[in-house]
Amino acid sequence: MYEQVSHSLLNEILVDLKPEIHEEDLRHFYTRLGANFYSIYSLFNILYGRRDDFKAQMHKLVETMAGQYIQRSDHLKQTDIERENDHNWFLSQQWVGMAQYPDGYADTLPELTQRVHYFLELGVNMVHLMPMMVCPKGASDGGYAVSDFRRINERFGNIEDLQELAATFHQHNILLTLDVVLNHTSNEHEWARKAREGDSTYQDYYYIFDDRVVPDMFEMTMPEIFPETSSGNFSWDEKMGKWVMTVFNDYQWDLNYSNPSVFIEMLDIILFWANKGADILRLDAVAFLWKKIGSICQNEREAHLLLQLLKDCCQVTAPGVLFIAEAIVAPVEIIKYFGEDAINAKECEMAYNATFMALLWDAVATKNARLLNQGIKSLPDKLERATWLNYVRCHDDIGLGYDDNDIVAVDYEPKAHRQFLIDYFTGHYADSMARGLPFGHNDKTGDCRISGSLASLVGLEDALECGDQDAVDDAVNTILLLHGMIMSFGGMPLLYYGDEIGTLNDTSYLEDPAKANDSRWSHRPRIDWQKAELRNSPGSIEHRLFSALKKMIAIRKELAAFADFNNRELLDVGNPHLFVFSRFVYDQPTSRILVVGNFHSSPQHLNLEDIGRKAYFRNGAVRDLYTGEQPAMFKEELVIPPYRFYWLTDQ
Ligand code: GLC
Repeated sequence: MYEQVSHSLLNEILVDLKPEIHEEDLRHFYTRLGANFYSIYSLFNILYGRRDDFKAQMHKLVETMAGQYIQRSDHLKQTDIERENDHNWFLSQQWVGMAQYPDGYADTLPELTQRVHYFLELGVNMVHLMPMMVCPKGASDGGYAVSDFRRINERFGNIEDLQELAATFHQHNILLTLDVVLNHTSNEHEWARKAREGDSTYQDYYYIFDDRVVPDMFEMTMPEIFPETSSGNFSWDEKMGKWVMTVFNDYQWDLNYSNPSVFIEMLDIILFWANKGADILRLDAVAFLWKKIGSICQNEREAHLLLQLLKDCCQVTAPGVLFIAEAIVAPVEIIKYFGEDAINAKECEMAYNATFMALLWDAVATKNARLLNQGIKSLPDKLERATWLNYVRCHDDIGLGYDDNDIVAVDYEPKAHRQFLIDYFTGHYADSMARGLPFGHNDKTGDCRISGSLASLVGLEDALECGDQDAVDDAVNTILLLHGMIMSFGGMPLLYYGDEIGTLNDTSYLEDPAKANDSRWSHRPRIDWQKAELRNSPGSIEHRLFSALKKMIAIRKELAAFADFNNRELLDVGNPHLFVFSRFVYDQPTSRILVVGNFHSSPQHLNLEDIGRKAYFRNGAVRDLYTGEQPAMFKEELVIPPYRFYWLTDQ
């Protein structure tokens, strides 16, 4: 869009750019800058327009984008162009992800590079590596307390090793996803150290207060994120003699995004990693980016504007790179991180589907899909060119972030229902074989979340210990049922490393004082490669899970109806134990696939006539794409065994 004020400012900036920038061939950069500038200017103006240094900061912003564009390799620039030309590339059903701790999977990055065959064997072609940047020993929050954003922890290797890994991934058409921890730095980061030494420029990078007046005002409305280990949202820094905002752990200092210098520094870091070969960047804790007195300091409008601005700027320098929003917030809020309320721009192309994840766990505990159906019904459609990251487990806890209205709509009482779920997953419920652990218990509010590996949460650990073969089968089937759902729901499935071989809780974290009070370490395993070898031994649990997931992935990749174009229809089937939806390709009536999941411990039936059999099974045949077989039927009634799923078609 042409707009006088922004256009003349752009001209002014371009004339004044550093001479070395002028010397480069920046044709693509200028075209993209021209196309996005009005939006960049408008957003920057809303956020920082009242400052005296606004123009100087705009200048610095453009210089940062240009500087990183010059650093971008020809190969990556070529990928940018290819992705611009095929802009729906990431919505394809071809992509299947896996998240992992690099040192949980291999000791070093070069070793990880050598293990690429494991991903290829399973069919995984997007790998999210949890943060590897330099962190203090101990006070690291599993890599999320970064003390140097541009250096890799020596333990893993160095930047060259990472680039090597990226190159190997790209040879095999695997996408590399890296984390950028946007909301805070470690208290040992250079900026924090300078702030501590009294440097006011860097004190302005954080939220720092002389006394408790403002912190106390914030505390009136801000919830606690890690109440057990880090109560409150502010920490006293002895050296400065001041209070610092620390929403997560007391060693994680929240960055002050009302300072444009912070925004520009973090944009530079995002583009730095984009230039090292990341295809996707996971933006950590994005809901927290903006702080406002009197609010919960999450999901503020300015947090969205910041993300729109980051996206626009990335679009200019590295348009082939996607953003994942890690916003584990209420269902109606999550969807906004795609850019629902966008002024001019989009935000993140992908977002964790924490809603679906939590609802799936509700279905596991209740053995019915009432809340699951209700919660998905309430989930608004996404924007076009936006997709979910669908997952069952990840490195974090499971939060019971359901909408209370949905809980009430299916006749549960919210507080009692959440308590039931906590009791169920921590094994304090009579019928439960789950071996989860409480996480983030808050004495004041009674809130609690859940840790534990997928296998232990669905009862595999307990079943193996008791030697109960039926329970083992149920646990294996539940693991596959959950994956059958995330593979077909619409979006990119994100497996969690170790789940593909049924990894149980790891209690060794209890021996490490830096980890012992954070139960999330129970599900952040080091892969036991000897155990992983059992994936080749038919009959073993590892083989049952690995081969089934491998098959599921291969089949998913063949099904155009599983690509994500908001092409899903949820079906109300009257049987509370079933979760049923259809997937299709628009304008192709023959492409319909009926997905059915049974969360109950007994077989269930579904009357196909009632859901309009002809729309799915035009030629009369009913076949399950996953097993390749005809499912059991009695007249019009489809029979679904306990904890099983179908992907049905007539083909
Ligand atoms: C994100 C990470 C989590 C971390 C938190 C603070 O939620 O996933 O592991 O503790 O951010 O950085």
